[in-house]
Amino acid sequence: MARTIHILNGPNLNLLGKREPEIYGSETLEDVAQACAALGKELGLETALFQSNHEGEIVEMIHRARAAAAGIIINPAAYSHTSVAILDALNAYDGPVLEVHISNVHKREGFRHHSYVSQRAEGVIAGFGVQGYALALRRMAVLLG
Ligand code: DQA
Repeated sequence: MARTIHILNGPNLNLLGKREPEIYGSETLEDVAQACAALGKELGLETALFQSNHEGEIVEMIHRARAAAAGIIINPAAYSHTSVAILDALNAYDGPVLEVHISNVHKREGFRHHSYVSQRAEGVIAGFGVQGYALALRRMAVLLG
């Protein structure tokens, strides 16, 4: 049975493709889900992509991943910079965690330079556009061996 990777997305990423396309590009989250599913097949991994605009729901997604996911790829969006609750939930998860940011957060406002989630993540990808999700999935395949 293929191992499943949960790809979790935080607030406003439901608007990907429409929201600030000069920063985040024109591809949608559904495009990301399809590209990851196709790449996952090549890598022998199943993928399931989720998105929520609510912090507590993201915490619950991480709790569900404890029993259902071999690894987590997460773009916590704005909650990266504020959420101890998401960090704590990830600390209660045993598998590998990779953090993705579509934009290069280090080239942007100072408040985006710190992410609570980075303390837990095995690796962080930022500034590679939506391709960052695919790169994270490739890395996940290596980490899971
Ligand atoms: C983001 C960067 C965050 O600072 C921002 O709040 C987002 C998206 C990114 O993917 O580049 O919503 O995580």
